[in-house]
Amino acid sequence: MEISRKYAVTEKVGQGGMGMVYKVRHITLDTTLALKVLPHELTDHAEMRTRFYREARLMARLKHPNIVQVLDIDRDEAQNFHYFVMEFIHGKTLRQYIRDQGALPLAEVLHIAIQVAKALTYAHTQVPSVIHRDVKPANIMIEDPSGRVVVMDFGIAKEIGQSDATRTGAIMGTMKYCAPEQMRHEPVDGAADIYALGMVMYEAYTGKQFFAGLDEATIVGRVLYEPQEHIADFSPDTPPVFTAVVTKAIAKSRERRYQTAEQLLRDLEQCRAALEAGTLEQLSLPGLEYASPPSASTELEDIENRLLRLKGERDQRLATTLQQQVQQARERAATVAASQWAETVWQQAAAHEERGRTSFQSRNYQHASEAYQEALPLFTHAYETAQTTAARKQEEQSRAAVETKQTKAERPETQEPVGPKDVMTPVLAPPPRRTVRLMRTIGRLVKKRARPHRRRAQKSLFRRVARVAR
Ligand SMILES: Nc1ncnc2c1ncn2[C@@H]1O[C@H](COP(=O)(O)OP(=O)(O)OP(=O)(O)O)[C@@H](O)[C@H]1O
Ligand SMILES: [Mg+2]
Repeated sequence: MEISRKYAVTEKVGQGGMGMVYKVRHITLDTTLALKVLPHELTDHAEMRTRFYREARLMARLKHPNIVQVLDIDRDEAQNFHYFVMEFIHGKTLRQYIRDQGALPLAEVLHIAIQVAKALTYAHTQVPSVIHRDVKPANIMIEDPSGRVVVMDFGIAKEIGQSDATRTGAIMGTMKYCAPEQMRHEPVDGAADIYALGMVMYEAYTGKQFFAGLDEATIVGRVLYEPQEHIADFSPDTPPVFTAVVTKAIAKSRERRYQTAEQLLRDLEQCRAALEAGTLEQLSLPGLEYASPPSASTELEDIENRLLRLKGERDQRLATTLQQQVQQARERAATVAASQWAETVWQQAAAHEERGRTSFQSRNYQHASEAYQEALPLFTHAYETAQTTAARKQEEQSRAAVETKQTKAERPETQEPVGPKDVMTPVLAPPPRRTVRLMRTIGRLVKKRARPHRRRAQKSLFRRVARVAR
């Protein structure tokens, strides 16, 4: 098969996310080249095509031993597809290489990383700066037998990928190397490539991907929503300086990350020099955070710190519980108007509660607990006092009410109307002698008179006698 009557296809060399890659022979020059067919979208979308050609021109300007040389970009009229042509690299991708070899020795990791860092330093310092945006093991090739490391697909993959929703598979595949700012679709600079190279170094050194076995959603969650930085969990025999370099490269925060590829390159070169000199273990580079090896004293400190933290948490829990209890006790006391009946106690309790509140706010939970512990019994006391006082007052009032009633009953002017018994009492009292004699006389007189009127007359006379006797 011929393409644009310039290139004869020799063989298929690979299938990427965008399209097929062929090994081709330049018909006129008789040189071996690689030709990558671009997605159909380029043919269909004029705007996308313009942008892609602009990128390709920038790419073609990059001339560096560690960047694949782009030689041509064109369209095959007959088959209606766009393609670009680049130097053919004899060798395998780093992805394939790690699959074959597993974890690579540190010297090899440094050798690869240094060359990629050189390519990035060169591209990032172009005017305008060229950002790769898709650094990953599949886009890094190791030439055989020279060992030259070549970075492929500068700027192209992401440029097309971002505009094409149908290529989500390819985009997803690169999430593992995607810097947080790039995930958020913010404008990216060289720092995104540094992050990706850090991830590549991790993978080359350990033989496994940093996010191995995780799905896209989990990776995004880890990168964007977990606040802590990534930890390079290397084996304990790893030189601390190398761990620190990788940790700094994969820092989520741009401030903590290497600011330029050149700074990373310098650190990597120092690591390699020290490794060759046998002094890597002792190497300490400025601007790196070292995870200090746990010594007996730091372990003790750690335990103490943990104990302190636990104590702090316990104090806070206690203070919170007491705070609620005090509040309940105060509310209960308020129902019996304790602030009125037990004024002094109430004020003391309220003062302690206020002190507790202030201490709680300033997170001094121990003081807060102490203050609440003082307030609690006082509010309870105020409640009981108020209840007793109120009950006594009520009792007093009801007693007073009873007494008032009795007094009223005894006073004559307010006497109830007298009953028949009261009327008869003085009559039934033993009459004086004179009266007795008079009554006998009346009795005799009544006997002499007519019988039917006897009783009535006797009663009336008796009444008259009684009146006289009083
Ligand atoms: N210049 C080249 N020389 C030799 N082989 C190449 C060249 N470019 C690409 N290849 C081969 O073609 C394969 C596919 O490359 P391609 O860039 O299309 O896929 P990818 O990098 O896996 O995915 P992506 O589309 O995301 O870049 C590579 O894995 C590599 O083996
Ligand atoms: Mg590629």
